[in-house]
Amino acid sequence: MGFAVEKIRADFPILQRQVHNKPLIYFDNAATSQKPKAVIDALVHYYSFQNANIHRGVHALSQEATDAYEQARDQLQHFFNARHRQEIIFTAGTTHSINIVAHGYRSILKPGDEIIVGQAEHHSNIVPWQMACDLTGAVLKVLPIDNNGQLKLQALNELLGVKTKLIVVNHVSNALGTINPIEEIIEKAHSIGAKVLVDGAQASSHIKVDLQKLNVDYYTTSAHKMCGPTGVGMLYGKKALLEALPPYQGGGEMIKEVYFEGTTYAGLPHKFEAGTPNIAGGIGFGAAILYLNSIGLEEIAAYEHDLLVYATDELKQIQGLKIYGDVVEKTAVVSFNIEGIHPYDVGTLLDQMGIAVRTGQHCAQPVMDFYGIPGTVRASLAFYNTKEEIDILVKGVQRAVNMLL
Ligand code: ALA
Repeated sequence: MGFAVEKIRADFPILQRQVHNKPLIYFDNAATSQKPKAVIDALVHYYSFQNANIHRGVHALSQEATDAYEQARDQLQHFFNARHRQEIIFTAGTTHSINIVAHGYRSILKPGDEIIVGQAEHHSNIVPWQMACDLTGAVLKVLPIDNNGQLKLQALNELLGVKTKLIVVNHVSNALGTINPIEEIIEKAHSIGAKVLVDGAQASSHIKVDLQKLNVDYYTTSAHKMCGPTGVGMLYGKKALLEALPPYQGGGEMIKEVYFEGTTYAGLPHKFEAGTPNIAGGIGFGAAILYLNSIGLEEIAAYEHDLLVYATDELKQIQGLKIYGDVVEKTAVVSFNIEGIHPYDVGTLLDQMGIAVRTGQHCAQPVMDFYGIPGTVRASLAFYNTKEEIDILVKGVQRAVNMLL
């Protein structure tokens, strides 16, 4: 049986709407994914029937809300195959998750220690490390990419040394869609006693992620890239590492005992979950995981790869069009420019045709600087997109070229 894309599309109310009197074609999934009715319903259900603060009340509503929230943590544990449920920390999103670890490393890093960062990182996996280095005297070293946007693994051998404490790298580049060989990177890092943090925001709804198999130290993602709500995400860390990491924020929930003379902290995961969390968001995240599971990550990956190959081949027919990161190992992201045309102009014309793409630097300025370009047009696809939509995109880009050149 083939991939039931029409049935799947019916799960997403927004895909029925029009933009500028044209049917919406949504190719900005790397920025945020659309939400199926199951997720929207979970949010409405929580606020309509279960709304209460969690971990705090003996009353029935609080217990129900707590159970629903903690169930979502279990769903995440199983989805990512983490060994312990305490290793799953709810956060506000990937940026927050990375900042929790980077903040903790301010107490771990010593002057001269080194952190290796990939050249094609999102700013959220660069800036927190620069801040940690500024405060500690640690040094940030860059693992370069080649012209195809792939990390130069050879260079890693030269960068890795006794001073390396951490490698921070994305699983998939948000700007290019290239998949990084994180298995090899993790193995190399561990062979010299360094740890690895992987930014999984662009991977976790496109590639099956098995945290135990990867043996990764820290892994981060955002619900909103996975058909879930905005404002909620996950930090995974190996139990012993999270236990050793100082808390990020102080407040309620993250404590064991508070005296004016001093405070002791709660165990995992609560040590990193100060304050009232995004309860509805967490429950919605759980609903999104259930939804993705109902389709199957392997099925999603295979279908999206098919879309990627089709979109790449068709877009390449357009004269002067150059794709950045045109490699085999990538998710369904096509980042491109047309000679002589600014990406913003293409994006604006596509929008008039009802086609949503992202244009610009994609919060990854070093990638654009590497290619010497102001930005790209990025079409990022999801499992609810179709080849018919790609045909319309290709025609739209050609029309934009005809108008602009
Ligand atoms: N990180 C998101 C993107 O790549 C916002 O568009």
